[in-house]
Amino acid sequence: MKILTINGSRRKNGNTSGLIQSILEPAVQDGAAQVESIFLGDYHIDACTGCEGCSESWECVIKDDFATIVKKLDAASAVVIASPTYWYSVTSDMKRFIDRCYSLLQFPVSRKEWIAKYQGMGKVCITAAVCEQSDLAMMGNTLSLLTDFSKDIGLNVVESVAGVGYFEAGRIKSDREFLQTAEKAGQKLYDLLKR
Ligand SMILES: Cc1cc2nc3c(=O)[nH]c(=O)nc-3n(C[C@H](O)[C@H](O)[C@H](O)COP(=O)(O)O)c2cc1C
Repeated sequence: MKILTINGSRRKNGNTSGLIQSILEPAVQDGAAQVESIFLGDYHIDACTGCEGCSESWECVIKDDFATIVKKLDAASAVVIASPTYWYSVTSDMKRFIDRCYSLLQFPVSRKEWIAKYQGMGKVCITAAVCEQSDLAMMGNTLSLLTDFSKDIGLNVVESVAGVGYFEAGRIKSDREFLQTAEKAGQKLYDLLKR
């Protein structure tokens, strides 16, 4: 049982990290799963150029750290993908990663339908986002983008968690009530993973 977390924030002790930690808590407590946590900012991922070089190969032609992350995704049976809101959306690190995952889709018949690399593999997923403002509208499309993207590449999104009202790095850790909600989502993911 491998759980991969993908964090779009560069603040290693930030609110996104705090949220991910709470989601992981049930798995960590149980101790049977192998957890790997990555910060996209630690990887060199260039922008997708739209070259269509991946159209028949499932592989991006750009040679950088993206393939390393795909290998980790291939091996994971559960994924937690999370980002802070930057200007109503995901961070640029996260967006570059998502764009490059275009190589995880193939369009064999028409452009209207696609096959996703992880379709039907039973990989479970939680999407999560944090933002500063208390009004959920200020989160923009952060969470819906993460969720739509994860579903599109064939992950089974079982929960989506939005944390609003956190600005200073680590502020989320003082909100026990919200973190319990995150742990509950993590418990659901872990229960499905153990099945
Ligand atoms: C460049 C930038 C843009 C931001 N844009 C928004 C925004 O549109 N809405 C919002 O509520 N918070 C916004 N924030 C605040 C962050 O989402 C918030 O501080 C979050 O807790 C950061 O998460 P982290 O600690 O995991 O890095 C922005 C922060 C930065 C640095």
